[in-house]
Amino acid sequence: MRQKIIAGNWKMNNSNIESLSLVKDLMKFDFSNDVRIIISPSFTQLGLVNEQVKNSNIEVASQNMHFSENGAYTGEISSSMLKSSGIFISILGHSERRTYFNETDEILKQKVDKAINENMEIIFCIGEELNDRKSGNHYEYIKVQLENTVFSQPYESWKNIIIAYEPIWAIGTGETASPDQVQDMHLFIRSIISEKYNKSLADTVSIIYGGSVKPSNANEIFSQSDVDGGLIGGASLKSEDFAAIVNAS
Ligand code: PGA
Repeated sequence: MRQKIIAGNWKMNNSNIESLSLVKDLMKFDFSNDVRIIISPSFTQLGLVNEQVKNSNIEVASQNMHFSENGAYTGEISSSMLKSSGIFISILGHSERRTYFNETDEILKQKVDKAINENMEIIFCIGEELNDRKSGNHYEYIKVQLENTVFSQPYESWKNIIIAYEPIWAIGTGETASPDQVQDMHLFIRSIISEKYNKSLADTVSIIYGGSVKPSNANEIFSQSDVDGGLIGGASLKSEDFAAIVNAS
């Protein structure tokens, strides 16, 4: 069944004290059980934040993970390290990872394979640049991103895959894709999942939107029929804003 999901990507922000205070503030809100709430602090705070949310319905995800089990990969974190910290969800393929850390589809495919083999859940990010949209190439771009990565997964793995559509031109820019643009792309993504697998699978995959979602635009975006929630950056760092976004879903 498709789930409503609101995930907060805290990126490289917050000291330990700030993260704990944010999480404590979030836990004061009375959220509906119909929405899955996920927050994603930095690696160093995963254990701390996870401990804090343990009696709540807030889940914790990492912002990345490596594709190897272990070895000489200075500075990297493996799926088993995450799991041993109680973390079973990872964001993969965020455009900032792709752009600043050269994560290609080839690397991301290995990460997806590893996470799925380890029975972790992934929030897999895809999204086009402004140029692709302007030239009308955005559908093809998204299709290729999916074909190169998650589309090599068998049917059964999709219970562990959440797709986050995040047009790069809308991330952290204040420029949100219009509700029509979001719906249109989500419908396209669902249709190619349906072509590749089948309609009943496509109808169960949660496809969330990310890119300058804020309390003022959340409701309109989330009310689109193929939008199952959001991946929230900037606005997830303020408890009232994040709570308002969760409540708008
Ligand atoms: P933003 O970031 O909400 O600040 O645009 C979204 C994201 O990067 O996931």
